[in-house]
Amino acid sequence: MRLTIGICFMVLSMATRVNSLVGITWGRQQTQQLVPSMVVDLLLQNKIPALRLMTSGYDIVEVFADTNISISVTLNNQFVWQANRKELAYAWINDRIKAPINKGVKIVELAVGSEPFSNTFYKDKRYDHVVGVLRLMRQSLDEMGLGHVRTTTGHGMDVLKVTKFPSEADFRDNIKGPMLDLLYEFNKTGTPFLIYMFPIHFVKDVLNYTMEFAFLDNKSGFKIQDDNATYTNAVEFMIDSLAWAIKKAGYPKMKIMVGQIGWPTDGYPHATAKNAERFHKGLLKFLASNKGTPLRPGPIHMFLHSLTDENLCNTTFGAFQRHWGIYQSNGNPKYKIDFSLQDRDDYPTQAKGIVKMPSRWCKFNGDKSNMNLVNKNYYLACKEADCTVLEKGASCGGISSESKVSYAFNAYFQKYKQDIDHCDFEGLGEIVSTNPSTKNCEFPVEILAFQDVLSNGMVLRI
Ligand SMILES: *[C@@H]1O[C@H](CO)[C@@H](O)[C@H](O)[C@H]1NC(C)=O
Ligand SMILES: *[C@@H]1O[C@H](CO)[C@@H](O)[C@H](O)[C@H]1NC(C)=O
Ligand SMILES: *[C@@H]1O[C@H](CO)[C@@H](O)[C@H](O)[C@H]1NC(C)=O
Ligand SMILES: *[C@@H]1O[C@H](CO)[C@@H](O)[C@H](O)[C@H]1NC(C)=O
Ligand SMILES: *[C@@H]1O[C@H](CO)[C@@H](O)[C@H](O)[C@H]1NC(C)=O
Ligand SMILES: *[C@@H]1O[C@H](CO)[C@@H](O)[C@H](O)[C@H]1NC(C)=O
Repeated sequence: MRLTIGICFMVLSMATRVNSLVGITWGRQQTQQLVPSMVVDLLLQNKIPALRLMTSGYDIVEVFADTNISISVTLNNQFVWQANRKELAYAWINDRIKAPINKGVKIVELAVGSEPFSNTFYKDKRYDHVVGVLRLMRQSLDEMGLGHVRTTTGHGMDVLKVTKFPSEADFRDNIKGPMLDLLYEFNKTGTPFLIYMFPIHFVKDVLNYTMEFAFLDNKSGFKIQDDNATYTNAVEFMIDSLAWAIKKAGYPKMKIMVGQIGWPTDGYPHATAKNAERFHKGLLKFLASNKGTPLRPGPIHMFLHSLTDENLCNTTFGAFQRHWGIYQSNGNPKYKIDFSLQDRDDYPTQAKGIVKMPSRWCKFNGDKSNMNLVNKNYYLACKEADCTVLEKGASCGGISSESKVSYAFNAYFQKYKQDIDHCDFEGLGEIVSTNPSTKNCEFPVEILAFQDVLSNGMVLRI
């Protein structure tokens, strides 16, 4: 799925020699975005050596200059046309890759397209022309003296047929042609196959195995025996399924890199912070062991998806799409995770220097004399602001309908930076200073966005 979705040598040469790399992904579809320099600080403090940007990041990559953080940039499917001719490719690379590199940004990879052959996300649409653009980008990078920048394309598990055993895996028949073309390109340049993983979805909706199989701590004893290979968790199962498919396509030695792997905390069955903590604890222990999988023993490189929630992300595939963050969008960690692979039971470093807006909320004043008016305003608020947590089964799905209206009004008010005109709702809104949050349902207060901070508090619209 559009999962979304790192890395670390430098500071890890401590007592234990760790070779697997853990990076992180960052998407920026938020109402109030973290200041990029804070993100740099966050990665440095947590010793995360690699960042995958789910966009070209043209407006922010420069803050990563001289940090030695490896950056991967993505040219998304819908923008591939921006580079589909030689002169366009040159111009794009000049602007988005060469210029930042000249300023000291360590761009190591360009992902051309994102899940172009997905049948989960684009039912009727395919982006086969990504293959041609990938070739053109490779050639252009080489000609421009940027041969060290890898070119790749990220895929989801849905490029494979659904099978119950890894050894049965193969690419879907209807994408074999373009997939073989891509494999040929990857092999020619020694580029690993980039896979995006969403274990909850794979276990529940694809395999229909017990959810315990999604975790790597082997608590249930559930296992899949595939000839002489034993799988106690979905992550190894997924990697080896892909390894089998690649092998059958003629590339038994091609490396696999996990470009996105994560566990959302809301908006999907089993998507809670507690499960996300358990999943990552097992995953990072597995990586630290450098044990690898039956077919791919040894260290693995993975990017955890994702740094922060994205409350503007398209929710076509579900509310979970806005809840991938290890951090909330205000920079607070949601759960314990040790990016340094030392299995410490602690929260990661918090983003420093975040400025919150005042502690005030907008809520429904409770006037139910005209329910049409209430419903209309509720609908309008949710149309613009993020109400995904109010859905059935999500963290605020169980609050009263009156509280739901308050949640929506507040989300809208915070989105508009607590501008009092955005808590009117035809006389139904009121601003309060007591926090309406309940134990499981947090009514957020926004942070000052980076544009605001940069302009010294003068509010600029994005
Ligand atoms: C930069 O990171 C690379 C690994 O990505 C490491 O090999 C190198 O030693 C680092 N350089 C510095 C100056 O830390
Ligand atoms: C993969 O690349 C290697 C090195 O360039 C080459 O020797 C090999 O023939 C390639 N494999 C295929 C199947 O093209
Ligand atoms: C999933 O497995 C359960 C039993 O484990 C079965 O009852 C159910 O029908 C299966 N669902 C699908 C869609 O295959
Ligand atoms: C998983 O647990 C079973 C017993 O429940 C044990 O036999 C097996 O060795 C364990 N596997 C791993 C990889 O720890
Ligand atoms: C089982 O082991 C044999 C011999 O080591 C190997 O050739 C084969 O690929 C293995 N099968 C699986 C499914 O791992
Ligand atoms: C979400 O994506 C779908 C399909 O890509 C598109 O039709 C829809 O307009 C998008 N919705 C929003 C709110 O951007």
